[in-house]
Amino acid sequence: MLGNFSYCNPTKLYFGDDSLKFLKDELKKYGDNVLLVYGGGSIKKNGIYDEVVAILGEAGKNFAEVAGVMPNPTIHKLNEGVAIARKHGADFILAVGGGSVCDYCKALSVSVNYDGDPWQKYYIDFEEPDCETLPVGCILTMAGTGSEMNAGSVITYPEKKLKIGHVFADEKIMPRFSILNPKYTLSLPHYQMVAGIYDIFNHICEQYFSDEDDSTTDYLAEGLMRSVIHSSRIANENEQDYEARSNIMWSATWALNTLLKKGKTTDWMVHMLGQAAGAVTDATHGMTLAAVSLPYYRYILPYGTAKFKRFAENVWNVNPAGKTDRQVAEEGLQAMESWMKELGLAMRLSELGATEDMLPDIANATLILDGGYKVLTKDEVMQILKESL
Ligand code: NZQ
Ligand code: ZN
Repeated sequence: MLGNFSYCNPTKLYFGDDSLKFLKDELKKYGDNVLLVYGGGSIKKNGIYDEVVAILGEAGKNFAEVAGVMPNPTIHKLNEGVAIARKHGADFILAVGGGSVCDYCKALSVSVNYDGDPWQKYYIDFEEPDCETLPVGCILTMAGTGSEMNAGSVITYPEKKLKIGHVFADEKIMPRFSILNPKYTLSLPHYQMVAGIYDIFNHICEQYFSDEDDSTTDYLAEGLMRSVIHSSRIANENEQDYEARSNIMWSATWALNTLLKKGKTTDWMVHMLGQAAGAVTDATHGMTLAAVSLPYYRYILPYGTAKFKRFAENVWNVNPAGKTDRQVAEEGLQAMESWMKELGLAMRLSELGATEDMLPDIANATLILDGGYKVLTKDEVMQILKESL
C-alpha cells in the first residue's frame, strides 16, 4: 500500500430484521419537524410506510411528506422538495427507499437553506455547501448504491441530458444513521434486484482496476466480489433467501462507503459511461453499467493486464496453467460475462432504449476521468459506446 489517506465514516448502522426498532431513539436526537421522503409507492404496498408513520407518531413528530421521488431523481423534483421542506420548517429529513430517495435527501439537505440554484452550485461547479445543512437519516429498501453510508448524491437534469453525481467532501452530508433490514429488500422486482447486484459489483471494480502496488484494499475488494458473486447466484435462484439477501445488502454498503478507495486512485469510467446513458434514456442505473462494462473492460485490458489476470485468478478461479497472461485475463472477463448473463442483466444499451442517433449525446455527457489504466479520448468513448449498443 503506497497511498496516504485519512478515514472517517460517521454513519451509524443498524442491520438486521429487527433494525427498525432503533428508529425511535434515533429520532429523539433531532428536531420535531420531520420531512418524510419516499419514492413511487413501493413502501405503501409492502407495509414499510405504515410501520414508519407509526413510529413517527409514537415519537411525537410533526411530519410532512415528499412522495414520488423517481428513480434517477430530477432537479425539478428537488426544487419541489425544497419548497415543501421550507414551508414545513423541516429540521430533519428521513429517507425511506433506495439510492434515489437517499441521494435526493442529501441534495435536499444542502439546498433547503441555499438561496441560489443548487444545480449550478453543486452539480456544475461542484462546490461544497456554505449554508446550514439538514441532517438525514435513511431506511434503506434496496441494496445497490451504497448511498446509505456515503456522501454521494446523483441528480439528473433531463432537458440538458445530464446526470451528475457529487460526492460531498463534508462528512455531515452522509446519513447520520441508516437502518438496513434485508427483509425490506425481499419485495424488489427481480429486475431491480439484479441491477442492484451489478451496481455493487461494479462499484468494487471501479476501485479495484487501478494502480499496480500491493494493497490490502485490493484483497478486501476481491473478498467482497467473491461474496457478491456467491450470494447473487443463490438469490437469483431463490429471491426470498434471507441469508443471501442480507449478504448482498451488507456488501453493497461496504462496496461504496469510501473504504475500498483508501490508498488508491480509482477508475469510475463505467459509471461515467453508464450515467451518461442514463441521462439520455432514463434507464435503471445498474443496467446501464452492465451494458457498457464488457466493451470498456475489454478495451482497457491491454493497459492493465496484470490486474485483469489477478482478477481472473482470485475472483473467478481461472487456472493459469499453460496460458499467457493475456489469455488468463480474457478468461476472467468471459467468466464475468457468463455470470452477468446468468443473472439476466442488460448486456447492450439497445436493450435499454438507446439508439445509434443517441450516441453523440451520450458521448457528450460522458465525463472523462484519469484514475484508471487508460485515459480515454472522445473518439475512444464513442467507439466503446458503439460496441455497447
Ligand atoms: O419508487 P419506489 O416505488 O419505491 O420503487 C423503487 C424504484 O422503482 C423500487 N424499489 C425500491 N425498494 C423497493 C422497490 N420496489 C419494491 N420493493 C422494495 N423494497 O426500485 C426502483 C429503483 O429504486 P432506486 O432507488 O432508483 O434504485 P437504486 O437504489 O439503484 O438507486 C439508483 C440511483 O442512485 C444513484 C443512481 O445514479 C440512481 O440515480 N447512485 C448513487 C450513488 C451514491 N449515492 O453513491 C452511487 C451509484 O453509483 C449511483 O450512481
Ligand atoms: Zn453505481
